[in-house]
Amino acid sequence: MAVARAVDSRFRLDEATALILASTFGTPLYVIDEGHFRLRVRRYLAAFRSARTNGEISFASKANSTLAVLAIAHQEGCSIDVASEGELRAALAAGVPASHCHLHGNNKQRDEIAFALSAGIGQIVVDNFGEIETIHELTHGQSPKLMLRLAPGVDPVTHEKISTGQADTKFGFNIADGSAEKAVQRCLELGLDLYGFHCHVGSQLVDPEAQRAGGEFISVFAVEMKKRLGFAARCINIGGGLGVRYTDDEQPMEIEEYNRLVVDAVEKALEDSGLEPIIAQEPGRALIAESGVTLYRVGVVKTVPAKRIGTRTYVVVDGGLSDNPRPALYGSKYSVERVSPATTQPLAAVTIAGKHCESDKLFDDVPLPSNVGPGDLLQVLSTGAYNSSMSSNYNRYPRPATVLIRENGEFALVVRRDTWAEMLSRESLPSGLA
Ligand code: LLP
Repeated sequence: MAVARAVDSRFRLDEATALILASTFGTPLYVIDEGHFRLRVRRYLAAFRSARTNGEISFASKANSTLAVLAIAHQEGCSIDVASEGELRAALAAGVPASHCHLHGNNKQRDEIAFALSAGIGQIVVDNFGEIETIHELTHGQSPKLMLRLAPGVDPVTHEKISTGQADTKFGFNIADGSAEKAVQRCLELGLDLYGFHCHVGSQLVDPEAQRAGGEFISVFAVEMKKRLGFAARCINIGGGLGVRYTDDEQPMEIEEYNRLVVDAVEKALEDSGLEPIIAQEPGRALIAESGVTLYRVGVVKTVPAKRIGTRTYVVVDGGLSDNPRPALYGSKYSVERVSPATTQPLAAVTIAGKHCESDKLFDDVPLPSNVGPGDLLQVLSTGAYNSSMSSNYNRYPRPATVLIRENGEFALVVRRDTWAEMLSRESLPSGLA
């Protein structure tokens, strides 16, 4: 069957906008386009709901927990997946009611669970047996909706560091070894409000076979639990993970086709079971990645001797590892474009490097105009997910600001750059060192 591949609809800045943004807010700068993000969420929701009328979408806030982003996702009809007390506090600060948040985590602290309960959390995705007992102790049977995270034993094709569905994983209850069934029994014994089953098999899956299989396996498990324990799941959550376009080589499936594929797999597995659960999913990257870019200014261009290729040209930008650790962590690649000055100059392959005190090589073989030079502005596409949320102050660089381009074209500074004072504000010098 021919698979429809997504057309390139990544947000990118034009030269005039890039120049204003860089001069007003400085670089490096994260930029999110509100209209692009809203349309993406609407399209995703429409695709999911046309495949399954009671489909529910939770935005995985680890991808980008900027308050403005969370507020938009919520306004557009998503609940919010939070993986820590910190992410829950961010959702609350963005005006999302706790009842619309789902708490994840594979080692939730007792205090974290207590905080979520006191806030009125909507769902807890339970990872392990200890957590079942803690929730019971803290709620005395009056628990919020509980989802059991299952490890369906599916090996996705993605980077090993973002692969979670296989049997050998720290996440969730294994189905094959009987742990998942025991967890269901224990929740029922304790009278907890067991709502259904959850899996998340991995991230940046350009081929969604693993999600299809994960959805199918946990649905087969739900049918088994109905037969054996009389438990009727009211929700099946297939997690997140649909890949996005970082470079032109990545061509993820169209979201309409993806949603049809995963819903079909779940519905087929549930056929004739009498189960009519809500089907839920929690995309992060698929909703926000392509709505964001990072704007950098080139500081240095140098050509050095290089083994095998003769010479290599380094184009050094004013950011790097601390605002985007993904190339160093996962070998991630991105599309990089010179946004200013715009030119029709022939392209030459360069290496983009950052300013941190290690190789901080960001991207190899990037085609840029051959006259690229200091002062030029570059934009890296698809940085809306897992860039600001994974940023750090390494080398004591301030983390970048984030600007939201509003639908009316106005620029809203939604995160300001770290100040020097706040970067030192947590520290003190003990006596004798001051
Ligand atoms: N649900 C759960 C339970 C998850 O663990 C994740 C991601 C998601 C949903 C959303 O996955 P997405 O749709 O965004 O692929 N830092 C890595 C990604 C780690 C993802 C962890 N879990 C990266 O930069 O690629």
